[in-house]
Amino acid sequence: MQALLDVYKIRQDFPILNRCLTNGKKLVYLDNAATTQKPKQVIDAICKYYSEYNSNIHRAVYQIADEATEEYEKTRENLRKFINAKYSEEIIFTRNATESLNLIAHSWGRNNIKKGDKIILTEYEHHSNIVPWQMLCNHQGAKINYIDTDYNGYLNIESFLNFLKDKGEYGETKLVSLSHMSNVLGTIYPVKDIIKIAHEKDIPVVLDGAQSVPHLDTDVQDIDCDFLAFSAHKMLGPTGVGILYVKKEILECMPPFITGGDMIKEVHKEYTVFNDLPYRFEGGTPNIADVIGFNTAIEYLKDIGMGNVRKHEKELVKYLYNSIKDIKDIKIYGPPDINNRGGLVSFNLDGIHPHDCATILNDFGVAIRSGHHCAQVLMEKLDIIASSRASVYIYNTKEEIDIFVDALNHVRRIFKV
Ligand code: ALA
Repeated sequence: MQALLDVYKIRQDFPILNRCLTNGKKLVYLDNAATTQKPKQVIDAICKYYSEYNSNIHRAVYQIADEATEEYEKTRENLRKFINAKYSEEIIFTRNATESLNLIAHSWGRNNIKKGDKIILTEYEHHSNIVPWQMLCNHQGAKINYIDTDYNGYLNIESFLNFLKDKGEYGETKLVSLSHMSNVLGTIYPVKDIIKIAHEKDIPVVLDGAQSVPHLDTDVQDIDCDFLAFSAHKMLGPTGVGILYVKKEILECMPPFITGGDMIKEVHKEYTVFNDLPYRFEGGTPNIADVIGFNTAIEYLKDIGMGNVRKHEKELVKYLYNSIKDIKDIKIYGPPDINNRGGLVSFNLDGIHPHDCATILNDFGVAIRSGHHCAQVLMEKLDIIASSRASVYIYNTKEEIDIFVDALNHVRRIFKV
């Protein structure tokens, strides 16, 4: 069978994948849903900025400042194409997906969510897509409704439709916010259909794309989301760069979030004239080096092709799922149908705490995440306090999955369960 992508060639670009740990084991990195590794091209781009044209952007007239501004804005334009936004003004750089979601809650939320309004979320949301809305609702006197999620990670669309209908004690739904892919269940949700239903009632939709944009071909015009939040570090880019896409007509009506330098045109004693879009949402000196480095990450993914990224992950995750599903007393969360699952598998071994499991896997060089995954509402629903999670990306191989599965069997033997 023809390779979907040349994983062994790709691996040569990632210096960290050659790393031996202190116990002599080779690193097997399966925590890509938390953050991905960086190819040397990205690391080099950041070094080049600091070595050759480190300067502030949008301010000075000298050559290296022009170069920095040009490279920074190149990332914005490249991102526009990557998610097929209409205008580059619709792309705002933040620190992370969390900050992007907070920006929406503060700027759009405080002006559009009023006392008695409702916001719809789902039970599988990451805390970043819950806490900002709780704070907003507490401040405005609004309420959150959570769409039911079942144990296989599927959404109860009936409960969504009922929330839309129900006016109850609280008034009408004014916003829907949900993740495109769950960071625990791995489920890929039919967000296009959900957005269509919400739009029939003129309700805008926020998409948390932290787990989807790095893995799926994303077309914001086709999905028709009103807002999209994601992070560079989960898609080969550096930490400290978040992205917020907002439809231009909505963004034009939003007040700034962070105020101060660079987001203004004029400041007088009594008033300020804000800068044009998108700069009015990027107060202060931004994370220039890392935004520039991120452009190289986007180029890297574009060269591979997002369709190939998805195919590779699907094949790996199918192999992973099938390799562990028959382990005695294992409970795997999320959809058994790999077509609805992104590149991760969360599980528990009965009688073994996920932290113990992850600690023993570490002895084999295998890095996975254990804990509540910042999704305690979902943990409550699943009636667990934590799980283990293995997540793959473009550089992972079936050989690495085999090492993980052997180590997992060893965990069971140690605990003799
Ligand atoms: N949100 C990241 C995760 O799910 C950190 O692991």
